[in-house]
Order: sequence, then structure tokens, then C-alpha cells
Amino acid sequence: MIRMPSRRVLVALSSLALLLALTACSDPQSTVDPKSDAADRINDVYILVFWLAMVVMVGVLVGTLVLSLWFRERPGRTARQIHGSTRLEVMWTLIPVVILAVIAVPTLETLIDADEDPPEDALRIEAIGHQWWFEFRYPDLGITTANEMWLPVDRAVDVVLISDDVIHSFWAPQLFGKVDMVPGHENRLPVFTPTEAREEAYLGQCVEFCGTSHANMRFRVFVRSAGEFDAWADRQVSDRAEPSTDLVQQGEQVFTTSACIGCHTIQGTSAAGIVGPNLTHVGGRSTIAAGILDNTPENLRRWIANPDDVKPGALMPRFDNQLTDEQLDALVAYLLSLD
Ligand code: CUA
Repeated sequence: MIRMPSRRVLVALSSLALLLALTACSDPQSTVDPKSDAADRINDVYILVFWLAMVVMVGVLVGTLVLSLWFRERPGRTARQIHGSTRLEVMWTLIPVVILAVIAVPTLETLIDADEDPPEDALRIEAIGHQWWFEFRYPDLGITTANEMWLPVDRAVDVVLISDDVIHSFWAPQLFGKVDMVPGHENRLPVFTPTEAREEAYLGQCVEFCGTSHANMRFRVFVRSAGEFDAWADRQVSDRAEPSTDLVQQGEQVFTTSACIGCHTIQGTSAAGIVGPNLTHVGGRSTIAAGILDNTPENLRRWIANPDDVKPGALMPRFDNQLTDEQLDALVAYLLSLD
């Protein structure tokens, strides 16, 4: 005889399931809390499929339970197998056909929508995957930045996806579906229009295993009002902030006379490297190292001292054996002054 689980176990299991469901809905990377038209459409298809699947699951489970109890072997009756019921076979072929047809219509509609050409006034962005960070260029605005993408609310966005090395994949679940960045091939995100401006960033990350620090390859999307976006864009195209203190001045000296300039650009200085992120306005970003660390003096110092310790396999060399403590302090003060 099968022993039924106790009521306490059932209550514990169902509470856990409910808790998981609630957590999933409020997660910052939840797909069921869409904040753009494109994410909305994907969510609609998902919710439809989810509820249809629930109906099928409950139907099959309840049917299995009821029929196996009903037709079980009892005193005076033997259980038997039924073969060849045309009516039943037609029925269980037709029901899935209808369900699949119901799913196919909105799925195809969503796919066709996703393939639409961007409107004339769409904001054009190139997102480039590198091991292990994201570069964002706004070709019409002359902006090059890293790991933090700003968007104006209620304006269509057209993002071209490029990879500099291996295959990466680009996904911010509340705003758009996942699309791969493939070396030697331009991909495109389906055009999307963010619908909710907010202070807090939308989170995204690389979702294709791309090497040691794949898990440390994140990005943030800031959706703001048109005015705030324009102010940000104006700041991004301007040269770096002029050094305002001796320490900052000294930091710029360290930067422009060390290996930093081989990889990084700071507009307004001689640094014009293109291997690593453009640092002209690095002090204005909320995080460093592709969203891994908050942009604080301690974290920036830790990163420059030994990047490999934060992000295993990072291309950037360690500087704690090339620069003195004073030079590191000056460098950190300088970079943070670049807002
Ligand atoms: Cu880039 Cu995973």
C-alpha cells in the first residue's frame, strides 16, 4: 500500500512552491514583469502557454488518478487493458491539434512582429561583446561607453549585436528577449520601446558560456526621461573633466604615462587605446568590471591592483606590482573624478 505524505509535508511543499513563484515574479531579471512593448508580447505568449500547459497537466494527473482508482482490480473484478478505441484515439489526437493551433497563432504573430524594421526615429545602438564586458556605441550621437546602456523612455531602440571574440548572448529579460552575439556576423535585437522610466537599473547579462568569467559579464540598462537621457548623452560626448585637485592631476599623469593608455581611451588626453572600455566618464558609472563591483574607491583600487582576483582570466594586467601605493591612490582619485 502506498502511504500518502502527511498533511504537514504537503503544506510545506506547497508553501515552498508559492514562495518560489512569488520570488520569480519579483526578481529583478523576471521575464514575467515586462517593461517594454517587445517584452510584453513575449510575456503574453508565455502566459498563454503556461496556462494551457497547466490545464493539460491537471487534466492528465486527475484523469490518471481517477481512472486508475475506478478501474483498479477489486474483489470480483479484474483490471483489464482496452485496445483499439477509434473514438478515444481521434479525441486525443484532436485535442493536442487544437491546443497547438491556439499556441501557434500568437507565437507566429510575435515572431513576425519581432522581424519588423525599426522606425526612422529609433535610437540606434551597437552592443559589442568582449571577454568579459559589453561595449555600447551610439553611432548617431558619437558616444562610446561600457557596461551601462542609457535609453530614453517611450522611444524605439534598434540594437545591433556584434562580438569581438567568441559567442556571447545579450539578455535583459524585462526589456527584450535573448539574442546571440556572433563573431563575424551582425545580429539584431527585435526593436523594442521601454515603457517605464525608473531610478533603478534594469539588469542584464551574458547568457552564453564564453569562458572563465562568463558569469562575471553583466550589464545595466538605465531607462530615463528624454530630458535626463539627453543630459547624459551631452555629458558622454564631452571631454573628460579637467583635473580639479593636485591628487587628480597626479592621477592623470600616472594614467597617461603607464600601460593604461595602451588599452583605454580618455577623451581630452593622449590615451586612445581601444582594447578595453572607454573611461572618459567612468566616474559617472554605478558599477565597474562589467557590473561586478559598485563603483567605490575601495573597489576601483582592488580592481586596478589585481583584476584577475575580481574577474578570473581578465585581460587587464595587475598594477599592484607596477605602481606604488601613492600612485594607485592618485589613479583611483583621478578615475572617480571623471563623471
Ligand atoms: Cu559573454 Cu558569456
